[in-house]
Formats: sequence, structure tokens, C-alpha cells
Amino acid sequence: MTVPMIAMRAVGKSFGAHQVLRGVDLDVAPSEVVCLIGPSGSGKSTLLRCVNFLEPYDEGEVRIAGELIGYDLDSEGERRPMAPSRLRAMRREIGMVFQHFNLWPHMTALENVSEPLRRVRGLPKGEATDRAAAMLRRVGLADKAGAHPLRLSGGQQQRVAIARALAMQPRLMLFDEPTSALDPELVGEVLEVMRALAAEGMTMLIVTHEMGFAAHVASRIAFIDGGRILESGPPRRVFHESAEPRVRQFLQTYHDRNAF
Ligand SMILES: Nc1ncnc2c1ncn2[C@@H]1O[C@H](COP(=O)(O)OP(=O)(O)O)[C@@H](O)[C@H]1O
Ligand SMILES: [Mg+2]
Repeated sequence: MTVPMIAMRAVGKSFGAHQVLRGVDLDVAPSEVVCLIGPSGSGKSTLLRCVNFLEPYDEGEVRIAGELIGYDLDSEGERRPMAPSRLRAMRREIGMVFQHFNLWPHMTALENVSEPLRRVRGLPKGEATDRAAAMLRRVGLADKAGAHPLRLSGGQQQRVAIARALAMQPRLMLFDEPTSALDPELVGEVLEVMRALAAEGMTMLIVTHEMGFAAHVASRIAFIDGGRILESGPPRRVFHESAEPRVRQFLQTYHDRNAF
């Protein structure tokens, strides 16, 4: 048995009295691509943010390559907050891409990728620039290195954001609706980059509403509703053979909305 890259066990999370995640169990094996789908407000973003502890979970465990994230266990098994330096080190191994790309507007595409390498990884300027240029090539933007974000399309900006995350050489990548803010004709170029990453063996946990992409690229689909994972399995099973009424209803609504 290989150690899962992500292992969530009985994870619970509340905001005040509002319980947003309930008993979440989810494994993502090395090189696996898991797509998380579900209605708005079901807890998808919160789940993703618990993986890198941007959101502290309050029950259960989240392990990255076997290591508990966010907490240390003392000799009695009580949890204490992990030392900030260790948490930062663990987070550096986890790339994250959001719906809104958050590029620095005053920097070029190349600088947006190279600056974090200098600040976070402490790379010398030449090395950071070389690595950033290689990452822009990888996402098909070699010719846009000198462009500022406002000169780029949304799809190009999101590819810069992916290059920025990849430059840190993460062990896994989290994507939170990476194409939801894009004009429809720009979605494909971003999904294509993600498809290539999957083919290279990157471990990915992806929140998406792109069912076609999920059906083709995901090793597994997890459906979440009301903070619970109701179903998890191969795309064919979840998309076509689900016995869960909520899953069928969600997919039917999606299908109706996208059919014309
Ligand atoms: N920081 C927060 N404070 C309070 N409630 C939150 C916070 N973040 C999310 N929520 C609530 O948690 C629920 C799940 O949110 P979220 O994980 O963003 O869902 P999804 O990504 O599936 O749309 C929602 O009801 C949302 O309002
Ligand atoms: Mg969300």
C-alpha cells in the first residue's frame, strides 16, 4: 500500500454554529486526479482549504504524504497547533490555484512567477528567472513573459497563476474552480494545461463544474452535499450509474442547463 498524498479522516469543520464539513473521508493517491463536485455552498472550497490548513479543521485528521498538517500530537495524543515554520514548510509543497488568479498587476508574467521563487524559496535572481521562463513555456506562454497581467486574457492569466504554483515544485496541486471566472472560449486552454499536468503524473484535487473534463481526466469523482461526501468513485459510475438521488438530481440539473 502506498501512502496517500492526501488522507482526510472524519474531518469536521464549523463556522460558529454552522457545521460546514461532516465526517469527511477522502484519499488521493500519488498521481491520482480527484474531481470534487457538488452544489454551491456544499463545502467544496472549505474542504480544499482544510487540505493546506488555510482553514483549520476542528475534527478528524488531514495528512499530507502521511504527515499530519496543522497540528502536532503530544505524548497523550492531544493536538496542539503546529509550529508556524513547519506549517509553512508543509504548505510550500502544496500548490493552489483559485478562481481569481491574484496576479500582481505591476509585474510582468515572468516576474509574477519568479518573485515568489526569490521570496519564498530564496533562489538567486538568475535561477528564479530561468525556472520561471521554463514554467511559462510549460503552460504555453513563452511569448508572454514580458506582458503585464492586464494585457493578458483571463485564460492566459490563469495559466500564469498555474505556472507560478508549479514553479514551487509542489508535490500536489489544489484547484478551486479554476475556470469559473473565464469566458467560455477561454476555458479550454486552461483545462488543456491541467490535462497535460495529469498526464505527467501530478497529484491533483480539483473543484470543478466542467463535467466533460472531469469525466475524461479524473481517476475519481467525489460528490459533496451539505458538507458530506455522498459518493466517490470512477467517473463512469458516478456520472451514469449513481444510486444516490442527490447525485442524479445534481447531474440532471447540470445537464438541463447545458443542453440547448
Ligand atoms: N469564513 C467563513 N465564515 C463563515 N461561513 C463560511 C466561511 N466560509 C464558508 N462559509 C460557509 O460554509 C458553507 C460552505 O462554503 P464553501 O466551502 O465556500 O462552499 P462551496 O465552495 O461548495 O460553494 C457555506 O454555507 C458558506 O457560507
Ligand atoms: Mg467554492
